[in-house]
Amino acid sequence: MKDLLKDPTLLRTQAYINGEWVDADSGETFPVRNPATQEVLAEVASVGGAETRRAIEAAEVAQKAWAARTAMERSAILRKWNDLILENVEDLAIIMTLEQGKVLAESRGEIVYAASFIEWFAEEGKRVYGDVFPLPQSTSRGVAIRQPVGVVAAVTPWNFPSAMLTRKCGPALAVGCAMVAKPAHETPLSMLALAELADRAGLPAGLLSIVPGAHAKPIGDEMCSNPIVRKFTFTGSTRIGKMLAAQCTETMKRTSMELGGNAPVIVFDDADLDKAAVGAAASKYRNSGQTCICANRILVQEGVYDEFVEKLKGVVGTFKIGDGMDESSTHGPVITRKALEDIKEMVDDAVAHGAEIAAGGDFGAEGEQFIQPTILCNVTDDMRVFKEEIFGPVAPIFKFKTEEEAIAMANDTEFGLAAYLFTRDQGRSWRVSEGIEYGMVGVNEVLISSTFIPFGGIKESGQGREGSSYGVDDYLEMKYICFGDLGA
Ligand code: SIN
Repeated sequence: MKDLLKDPTLLRTQAYINGEWVDADSGETFPVRNPATQEVLAEVASVGGAETRRAIEAAEVAQKAWAARTAMERSAILRKWNDLILENVEDLAIIMTLEQGKVLAESRGEIVYAASFIEWFAEEGKRVYGDVFPLPQSTSRGVAIRQPVGVVAAVTPWNFPSAMLTRKCGPALAVGCAMVAKPAHETPLSMLALAELADRAGLPAGLLSIVPGAHAKPIGDEMCSNPIVRKFTFTGSTRIGKMLAAQCTETMKRTSMELGGNAPVIVFDDADLDKAAVGAAASKYRNSGQTCICANRILVQEGVYDEFVEKLKGVVGTFKIGDGMDESSTHGPVITRKALEDIKEMVDDAVAHGAEIAAGGDFGAEGEQFIQPTILCNVTDDMRVFKEEIFGPVAPIFKFKTEEEAIAMANDTEFGLAAYLFTRDQGRSWRVSEGIEYGMVGVNEVLISSTFIPFGGIKESGQGREGSSYGVDDYLEMKYICFGDLGA
């Protein structure tokens, strides 16, 4: 793997704790595999609760000094980190494609996306304002200031191994917090490479520690129970998010939870069907269907159903499935063999209940973890593909008759992260956007993510917002100060 990198020293396999690269206390390591070939890429230190505690204690010390510095000083270091990430896009993208499987073009895009959170929050950190309140007594004045929450612990997923770190640590570090982060065990190398660049940028020791591990529980237990940690932030499944949030209540930690989704794409009969098909495919098959905001259910008005299916088949027919390192591949493998089997079970369930495979349906043809982009027709709301997050390149296409029915179907889920609709009717675009219960809505647009927007969900898709000017709020406490005895 090292031979593929211009700068092989970006390949780090130890934990990064208090500014030092260290092995696990036990000496244990775990393998990181290439999902396209199953080849072992590296053995990474597998730390546990004790190393995590040390990282948290170091963060507590480092955070106090960091918070005392000016926002300008913190910004200068973060900007340097941003620059180093951008100078190393190619190497970072190669590391990501090798361990995560997404095609190189997507990896390059994610690295630029990841850097953008550092750059954005390096600036937003300078704009942390307070407030002044009129009080009932003429001799007093009230103000509110906002201060960093302190030590933050973060657990991030394998589907965006770099951007989900920077979307959290960008705002945290910019406003004066410290962070201890655990990468997914499938994809630790991307985060460790970013930590190497943070170190080179001059980020003081202890402010960002990385604790990789094969066993999530001891690390998660320490993060969620240690009273020094004042905030816990998680991106991952709703099932795990609920367990971690419950653990955090013991010490009343603040939490941000970016959890699962079940995004509908609603295609009305007045839509531009070519754009809708391209959009639905872009959303559904991004990262081989492995994002929380991927289209999960495509709801199409009955009069244009058949035409839409044909157009979507046309778009999918242009895809080339293969190893992400091959520049001609448009879509890579899924993350593990287990993921492939889970997705296959959902397709089998749909077919057993009467669904038809209109395209794809091939599991394992290009290699052990590859799935042909699949389209399912004749699907109904009693199938698992309606209720559950598929997290793979399978597009079930449902039929609806009226606007009211489309809204009801879109809302018939415990999830509420992202939703999309295609229509040329302005009134309808407002009515439906307001009527559906989601944290983010794309109207005639599926590429809704960026640093500039408040990313997050409602219902069981979580709470908190990441990105935009709101992204700092989750890392700040408000303190009210009353100045009394000021004279008449
Ligand atoms: C996610 O899947 O949670 C992140 C997707 C994005 O930022 O676009």
